[in-house]
Amino acid sequence: MDRHRTMNAPIVAAQADHSAGHFLRVRQKTMDLCAGLGAEDLLVQSMPDASPGKWHLAHTSWFFEQFVLQRDIGYRSPHPEWHYLFNSYYQTVGPMHARPQRGLLSRPTLDEVRSYRQHIDAAVSELLVRGNDPELAALVELGLQHEQQHQELLLTDLKHAFWCNPLRPAYRKAIARAPTTSPEPLRFLAGCEGIVDVGDRGAGFAFDNETPRHREWLSAHAIANRLVTNAEYTDFVRDGGYRAPTLWLSDGWATVQREGWQHPLYWQPDLASEFTLAGMSALEPHAPVCHLSYFEADAFARWAGARLPTEAEWETAAAGLPISGNLMDQRHFHPQALSQHSETTNGLLQMYGDVWEWTASPYVSYPGFKPLPGSLGEYNGKFMCGQWVLRGGSCVTPREHIRASYRNFFPPSARWQFAGIRLGRDE
Ligand SMILES: [Fe+2]
Repeated sequence: MDRHRTMNAPIVAAQADHSAGHFLRVRQKTMDLCAGLGAEDLLVQSMPDASPGKWHLAHTSWFFEQFVLQRDIGYRSPHPEWHYLFNSYYQTVGPMHARPQRGLLSRPTLDEVRSYRQHIDAAVSELLVRGNDPELAALVELGLQHEQQHQELLLTDLKHAFWCNPLRPAYRKAIARAPTTSPEPLRFLAGCEGIVDVGDRGAGFAFDNETPRHREWLSAHAIANRLVTNAEYTDFVRDGGYRAPTLWLSDGWATVQREGWQHPLYWQPDLASEFTLAGMSALEPHAPVCHLSYFEADAFARWAGARLPTEAEWETAAAGLPISGNLMDQRHFHPQALSQHSETTNGLLQMYGDVWEWTASPYVSYPGFKPLPGSLGEYNGKFMCGQWVLRGGSCVTPREHIRASYRNFFPPSARWQFAGIRLGRDE
């Protein structure tokens, strides 16, 4: 991964598809996301947190070269000088180009990066076809999970870049939305109380930050049946939420003052429209609010007389639910209002997809967590400071990438990801 988060190492690769066909399908999805984008679109970097699309295309390929192909001492990179450009933050494999200056890399050209991807695809496919190698399979699976994380980042970074363009261009035309009905009433559902097991169950791929599975104590609590909507968040804004210091954590209030925040990122000041990957769009009142920081999610929850769920509460509620929802595969690329046909299990709605849900939990290691040896282990623990956990995936998360135990994390001031709110409360 790249941003202020980890590239976690694989713990389990069981039940994964280790075929060359699967590898090529996931890799091709990244290129499919770039269809219709020009070289200029894929070069721009709008802020230090975001990366150019071309950089994502090259970095994900470099990852396979560094951690898969170079296991063979006979492998020779076609562009060894690019190692410096496309290493993100792997200090143990060498120095790297400054992150805020990735948008200056007009060379290599987009065509050269495409050729590099093709070289990597062919070389990795050849290894996979060659035979049964569990270590190879696990590393390729990690590389594909990494690829999927960058698929999401490619879209969130592109959205921010397009938003910075006064033309407010559209990435894709909006797919017709599900019919909006009367809003689903917000209800609080009782959660499990007592000792629960959380973390990876060992049934498939998991990043190491999801391990080890362990016990946690849950006090009496409840969790909201659905996500907070634009209409509800508008009430918070109109009620002076951004002007009431008592609602905010100290760091959050300082950020509001410094940045001049008055509404979510991408909203217009009239609170009637927002920028989307389909261009400017009327704000859908019943769609989940998104592009919020942790500070805003926390302040809203306080205003609402509630709190954010902890990650253990969220995971316990999500356990056993089918992984379905408005994920990348639906190709809306934007949170959607609930329809009458929305799927629910045990009354819970929108647990997967639409928006990553900020939790009340700081991103720290689970009890017994052990970083893996080697360069891949470099990333597992070093980001476990100053960030908060998000759960559930978003409208730009590939469906096969998300699971109940998945822990995403961002600094509390980050807003450019599709992040929103599910409320919780003590009972
Ligand atoms: Fe990365």
